[in-house]
Amino acid sequence: MDHPAICQNRVAVITGAAVGIGFAIASRLCQLGMKVVLFDKDQNALDAAVLSLYRRNADAQVTTVTGDVTSASALQELFTVARGLGDVSMVVNNAAILKGAGPWSDQEQWRKTMEVNFWAVLAVQQLFVEYLLEQDFPAAVVSVGSKEGITTPPGNTAYSVSKVAVKVLTEHLEHELRERTSGRVSAHLLIPGYTFTPMNFPGISADSAKPSAPWTADQVANRLLEGLARSDFYIFCEDNEVSRELDQRRMQWNADDLIQNRPALSRWHPEYRKQFKAYIADVAPPQ
Ligand SMILES: NC(=O)c1ccc[n+]([C@@H]2O[C@H](COP(=O)([O-])OP(=O)(O)OC[C@H]3O[C@@H](n4cnc5c(N)ncnc54)[C@H](O)[C@@H]3O)[C@@H](O)[C@H]2O)c1
Repeated sequence: MDHPAICQNRVAVITGAAVGIGFAIASRLCQLGMKVVLFDKDQNALDAAVLSLYRRNADAQVTTVTGDVTSASALQELFTVARGLGDVSMVVNNAAILKGAGPWSDQEQWRKTMEVNFWAVLAVQQLFVEYLLEQDFPAAVVSVGSKEGITTPPGNTAYSVSKVAVKVLTEHLEHELRERTSGRVSAHLLIPGYTFTPMNFPGISADSAKPSAPWTADQVANRLLEGLARSDFYIFCEDNEVSRELDQRRMQWNADDLIQNRPALSRWHPEYRKQFKAYIADVAPPQ
């Protein structure tokens, strides 16, 4: 059975919904009879997304709002449009950007990353959560995190920091909602793995061949629905190269850095390379 927030003719709002994972989630919710509101800054991509949804389902209930998640007035318009369509029961905070800012460089990239990936997530929550608390029907708020916000691999520091922030924000949101609504309104953290979307593969189209390693965005959207149906908070995605078990070992290793007082990010420390390799040696590859 689907999560009770997924309900025919109720409204689902998805940010960054024109392509990729956001579009795949919008498409699944649309198939399930929800009125979907696609929010994105890319007008052309939104137009193409709407056509695609109608091609899949002539009865699709689709509305778009074009705007930037960092704009308070655009988010206010999103809220007004969504409310005008009926009862909003699902909010998916998905829009994000991937900038390669390092620990002491690229201030502007840091600012932009945090604005889109964190402050905008908070702003969307601030708009919708009060409203959801005042209703009496089941509702869910989904934040899209990343494994980079869990095991924080070196490379994209600003992105990792933004996704760590989203993880903690969503954990606290879920705690507060549980206290206030006894589970009527819930929060969930979707944690995609490596996924075949324009974020990682700029310029791809529907006909582009997918390399073997990443999951498709549709697989991620399906995992979200499975996780929601189980009322999972952490909705974790593997990919075709990294199994659930390997992810679990990596997470355990990260936690043990702190517990065992190892060097920061010891998984990538030359002196720990052999030890980490031995630690995961018995993990079977993905099926
Ligand atoms: N693709 C992956 O491998 C992967 C892995 C882990 C997590 N994620 C997360 O999944 C989510 C979706 O990623 P994706 O790969 O589908 O991304 P994508 O780049 O393919 O698509 C993102 C969409 O968000 C829109 N967007 C970006 N900035 C915006 C802004 N300021 N205002 C409004 N819209 C904006 C873009 O126009 C685009 O349509 C993100 O939160 C991302 O961090 C992705």
